[in-house]
Amino acid sequence: MFVGTGREHDRRYEPPDMILDAVGGTVIPGFVDPHTHLPFAGYREGEFDRRLAGESYSQIAGSGGGIVATVAATRRATSSELLQLTLHRLDRQLLCGTTTTEAKSGYGLNLETEIKQLQVLREAGQRHPVEIVPTAMPAHEVPEEWRHDPDGYVDVVVREIYPAIAAGCLAEQVDVFCERGVFTPDQTRRLLADAKHLGWRIHLHADELCDLGGASLAAETGAAAASHLLHASHEGIAAMAQAGVIAIALPGVSFFLRDRFAPVRDLVKAGVPVAVATDCNPGSSHTESMPAVIALACLGAGLSSEEALVAATLNAAAALGRADRLGSIEVGKQADLVVLDAPSPKHLVYHFGVNLVRHVVKAGEIVVRDGALQPH
Ligand code: NIG
Ligand code: FE
Repeated sequence: MFVGTGREHDRRYEPPDMILDAVGGTVIPGFVDPHTHLPFAGYREGEFDRRLAGESYSQIAGSGGGIVATVAATRRATSSELLQLTLHRLDRQLLCGTTTTEAKSGYGLNLETEIKQLQVLREAGQRHPVEIVPTAMPAHEVPEEWRHDPDGYVDVVVREIYPAIAAGCLAEQVDVFCERGVFTPDQTRRLLADAKHLGWRIHLHADELCDLGGASLAAETGAAAASHLLHASHEGIAAMAQAGVIAIALPGVSFFLRDRFAPVRDLVKAGVPVAVATDCNPGSSHTESMPAVIALACLGAGLSSEEALVAATLNAAAALGRADRLGSIEVGKQADLVVLDAPSPKHLVYHFGVNLVRHVVKAGEIVVRDGALQPH
């Protein structure tokens, strides 16, 4: 990427063969979404209505809804159905300015479907301009058939599912949902030790519904990032700062579930880099839009608009181990750019609820022009 004046450019290089009109606009780095559950089938809008009427996420999960419902639909979906759904979501992400996204398995919870989800991500990455960072998450929930023996399922993950994913080179990272009623800190330690052994970067869903010491566990296990953190303790936050763990705030989940927001001010004060992500999934945050979560990160959680922009770009790239190449507009970095139809990036928050993305450039190619996807 070259950054400088037009005259300087033309002295050193051939004149450009493409010109994008950014007059009156603002050029920012392409958004990096560091936490999504993209390859899922089926929707849960009925559940959403029940929540609006007052039932809690846990009550609904306890009566056959929740992750289990999406697992059933995702197991039933064919690879090509799942691929179409995933490509469609990637289109929406791109139209909203996301040029790189993390995406997890975790709605399979068995060997066959976890592999199916990750193969779909590989195929989608070959067909779509959005760069995908694939994460293995067979420990997203204890599947119904193992409810009587969660340790038995952890055995299956470690002995069968992780090795098969590693053998197919289908993931770069691993994620575990450490939560009361899901995986205990000890089970999480075992899963992560094994994942580390396989050479994967570690992410954690931590302290979402209660303080289980997830933030400290992320520090102890050398995680690159911990997500959610609504109930993270002061000690946990200090441990993350000490160990250099990045916090991924998911303000879309707080908004969607009408819950509290992550303590982003405490995290920033403690020196923990904060990233933001959509957590795009059918149960707790059904959105592909980084601008939507940027607005919520400011208006709900309390980041400044500058902090939120860094959280959605450079800090998010760092959470995915890509800060050397992505996340900022710098000489030597890849040209992943968004031209906003706005005079400053503050309008992402100030002018909320509309899509301000005019053009998107991914790795030097124009992929969205005047708000329309370009053929790829
Ligand atoms: O990241 N926290 C756990 N898992 C998802 C929600 C999954 C679902 O409800 O389908 C999340 O919020
Ligand atoms: Fe998640």
